[in-house]
Amino acid sequence: FPVPLIHIRETNSTNNYLQTLCAKEKVEEFTTVVADFQTSGRGQRGNSWESEPFKNLLFSFVLFPEFLEARRQFLISQIVSLAIKEELNTYTDDISIKWPNDIYWKEKKICGILIENDLMGRNINQSIAGIGININQEEFHSLAPNPVSLYQITGKQYDIFEVLKNIMLRIQSYYKLLQKDETAPIVTQYEKSLFRKEGMHRYRDANGEFLARIVCVEPEGRLILEDETQNQRGYMFKEVEYL
Ligand code: BTN
Repeated sequence: FPVPLIHIRETNSTNNYLQTLCAKEKVEEFTTVVADFQTSGRGQRGNSWESEPFKNLLFSFVLFPEFLEARRQFLISQIVSLAIKEELNTYTDDISIKWPNDIYWKEKKICGILIENDLMGRNINQSIAGIGININQEEFHSLAPNPVSLYQITGKQYDIFEVLKNIMLRIQSYYKLLQKDETAPIVTQYEKSLFRKEGMHRYRDANGEFLARIVCVEPEGRLILEDETQNQRGYMFKEVEYL
């Protein structure tokens, strides 16, 4: 396997498991924890992450990107989303990155990412990325995030560890770019991969609903939208909703 791998049957959350491990002992960069089942998988905004046992990919890995300033932490999110998007694209078309870091197939969510960074001064001490990808699950009972699995898209079952291996290889090569400070291809690829990159779509912010197009995503992760009157506004995470 390309990275140090810990495979466990059950945990509350692979993010928690890896956090505890890193606090206890010295852990190699890229150490990956993968679980068959999570009893309380965590999502963004305090949501939970649901997955049937053995069906899907549930994993976390750790980076120590001390070279990266905290204000540039969105780059980690970008390389993780890109690696996953590109891997999923080898199985199906229509995969995109919904800003800031959900992975979509058409209008449905196939993967969620939860990145938890520990900052030290101006830099990032430790970054734990937790990823849930719906692979072989045949049906979903909660409709909330509009979920879809690779199986539902292609009618095929996949080897979860093969998908994991390929994703980690892709993340490692993007991480090398980041270490060399070659961020231009990362930013360009990320923008090209965005969900609803083309055309006008409906959004909602604190002032209500509006039609807008995506202009770009700034280095700190701010999404710039332009409405029908050519007015541009920037949003941080959670400040705008896609309708
Ligand atoms: C989201 O879209 O809200 C993020 C979901 C992240 C889920 C993954 S599953 C593996 C890892 N462990 C967790 O508890 N959460 C992440």
